[in-house]
Amino acid sequence: MELITTHIAMTKDMGVHGNLFGGIMMAWIDEAASVLACQTCHSPNMVTVKIDELVFQKKVKEGFLIKIYGEVAQIGKSSITMTIEARKESVYSQEQDLVLTTKVTFVRIDEGGDPTPIPTPVRERYKHLSKY
Ligand SMILES: CC(C)(COP(=O)(O)OP(=O)(O)OC[C@H]1O[C@@H](n2cnc3c(N)ncnc32)[C@H](O)[C@@H]1OP(=O)(O)O)[C@@H](O)C(=O)NCCC(=O)NCCS
Repeated sequence: MELITTHIAMTKDMGVHGNLFGGIMMAWIDEAASVLACQTCHSPNMVTVKIDELVFQKKVKEGFLIKIYGEVAQIGKSSITMTIEARKESVYSQEQDLVLTTKVTFVRIDEGGDPTPIPTPVRERYKHLSKY
């Protein structure tokens, strides 16, 4: 899996109980998946169609780094599904703990917002992960 984005859990990101607010983490997951989808498909016109179950396995306190990793899991005609993992990392020890793992699917769209094929060379490159 490759590292896609890194964030630091700041005071403004905390919920009332002092843990990282779930919605902030969800936005970071979506953003990282978008980066990986656009980068992989050589297109900025990728939209989220599905985020699988999100289970927050560990709490995140202020000051921890959140590192989001991902890899391509499946490629279709217009869709790409990625495995996305969020890990919290201590800045003191660099020790990492898995916070969540999920699958996210993006679809490439045209100017009208309709699905359009991912370029053939990309689909060729990932044919071992083809959904067909
Ligand atoms: C994504 C969108 C363009 C798909 O349009 P659609 O007419 O439903 O698409 P189709 O049924 O032709 O399917 C297109 C592809 O999307 C995939 N897809 C559609 N719904 C899906 C779902 N619920 N889960 C997984 N994949 C899905 C299809 O399998 C297909 O993949 P393939 O081309 O690789 O075989 C449309 O649903 C949309 O615009 N959604 C809103 C996207 C958005 O705004 N996201 C931001 C969230 S606020």
